[in-house]
Amino acid sequence: MAGLLSTPSNVLASAGVAYVHYLSFMVCFGALVLERRLIRSNPERKDAILMVITDVTYGVAALAVLLTGILRVLYFGQGSSFYTENPLFWWKVGTYLSVGALSLYPTITYILWAIPLRKGELPQVSEALAARLRWVLNIELAGFASIPLMAALMARGVGLPG
Ligand code: HEM
Repeated sequence: MAGLLSTPSNVLASAGVAYVHYLSFMVCFGALVLERRLIRSNPERKDAILMVITDVTYGVAALAVLLTGILRVLYFGQGSSFYTENPLFWWKVGTYLSVGALSLYPTITYILWAIPLRKGELPQVSEALAARLRWVLNIELAGFASIPLMAALMARGVGLPG
């Protein structure tokens, strides 16, 4: 693998995959911050539409983080066992999956908004629902913020047994 990676095209592919991994992480984080700012009870039409668009952007970027992460484990990293033998890697993957599972709640909520929005009506969002979504987004943001720390430690072999 080290030999393969030393060819110029593989170095570029590896850098490209790493770049998309970081860029999509930033897009995810930015989308969550924007959603957190936008959420309020009985939003205006333009804000409700922006929330739906932001959530779709978040979903696509989260998928890109996952795909580039898998590519790095399999082809462009330090060998897959370097990661799979490290509990920190599994904490990182677990945190990512937990955040993803948690984001189903806001996502399903916004998908349901599309029904009134398409009819030209506004979605009914109570203060209690807005407060709940704010909390979910807080937890997601905290989860996402902790992942780069696990990644930085993992990339340097911290947590490897022996
Ligand atoms: C299941 C999903 C993920 C997988 C499989 C994955 C996998 C990887 C791999 C293999 C590396 C390369 C480490 C090295 O250079 O040896 C890496 C680096 C990194 N990942 Fe991920 N990743 C995932 C999700 C995420 C997420 C969600 C974030 C951000 C929130 C993230 C942030 C980073 C960062 C900042 C690095 C660079 C670490 C460094 O070189 O110091 N990753 N990831």
